[in-house]
Amino acid sequence: MTDAELQDIETRLFFEAMAVRHGYDFRHYARASMKRRVQALAQSVGCPDIGSLIPRVLREEGFLGQALAHLSVPVTEMFRDPAVFLALRREVLPILDSYPRISVWQPGCATGEEPYSLAVLFEEEGMLPKAQIYATDINDMALAKAEEAIYPARNLAAYARNYAQAGGKTTLADYFTTAYDFSKISEPLRQKVVFAHHNLVADGVFCEVHMVLCRNVLIYFDRTLQNRVLALFHDSLVRGGFLCLGKKETLEGTDYADRFRPVDRDCRIWRKAEAS
Ligand SMILES: C[S@@+](CC[C@H](N)C(=O)[O-])C[C@H]1O[C@@H](n2cnc3c(N)ncnc32)[C@H](O)[C@@H]1O
Repeated sequence: MTDAELQDIETRLFFEAMAVRHGYDFRHYARASMKRRVQALAQSVGCPDIGSLIPRVLREEGFLGQALAHLSVPVTEMFRDPAVFLALRREVLPILDSYPRISVWQPGCATGEEPYSLAVLFEEEGMLPKAQIYATDINDMALAKAEEAIYPARNLAAYARNYAQAGGKTTLADYFTTAYDFSKISEPLRQKVVFAHHNLVADGVFCEVHMVLCRNVLIYFDRTLQNRVLALFHDSLVRGGFLCLGKKETLEGTDYADRFRPVDRDCRIWRKAEAS
C-alpha cells in the first residue's frame, strides 16, 4: 500500500472519529482540501501522522476546538466580489423593500465581515430599521470575533475599494470608529446582526427568511451534502425569496435547479419559484 493510500484511510478514520465522538461530520466535505487541512492540523499539533490525531480527538479534552479551528477556514472580507453586492443593491433590495419586515440568513458568516456589509447596504437603501440579519457558522472562535465587530484598521483600505465598486454611497470609514490599529463597526449596524452557532450538516431549518446569502461554503461540500443544504435553504425561504451563492457555486446539476429561477447568473442570485 502506498503512503498516499494509507493517508486516505487515516483521514477517513479521523473524520469518522470526529463524527461519532463529537457530532461534527466532515465526511461529505470535498476530499482533497480536507486532506490538506488535516495534514496541517497534524503538523501544527506535533503529530507525526494523521493516524496519531485519532486518539487525541477521541480522548483529549479541548482538542476538538483546535481541530475545528483548522478544519473550518473563516477566510472572508467586506464586500467580497463587489459586483454581487452591487447586484443585491440594484436587483434584490428594491424587491425586498416591498415587505414590511425583512429577515436574512447568512450561513457560513465566518468573522462577520459579510453580514456587516449587507447591513451597510440596508442602511444606505433606507431599509435598516425593518431588516434583521441572522448570521451563523460552526466556528465558535470566528463567531466570537464577528460579535466583537473589531477588525484590523489596515484592512479598511481594501474593504473601502470593494465598497466603492459595490455602489457605496459615502465612505466606508463612516461605519467604523477607529482607535489605534483597530476599527469597530458602528453600533446601529452591529445591533442588526444576530450571530449564532448552526451546523449546516447536522442542524435543521434556521428560521423563515426572505433571503439566504451563503457564499463560499457549498464549494467545500460534495453533491450529497450540497443537496441536503439546499433543501434547508429552500425550506427556509418564503416563496419568491432570494438565494445568493458564491461565485464558484451553482444550483445547476443539483436537485434544486428547477425550484429556483435565475435573477443574475453571473452574480449567482436565484429566486425561489412561486409554484414550488
Ligand atoms: C470561506 S468562509 C466563507 C465566508 C463568507 N461567507 C464569505 O464568502 O466571505 C467558509 C465558512 O463556512 C463555515 N462552515 C464550514 N462548514 C460549515 C457548516 N457545516 N455549517 C456552517 N458553517 C460552516 C466555516 O467555518 C467558514 O467560516
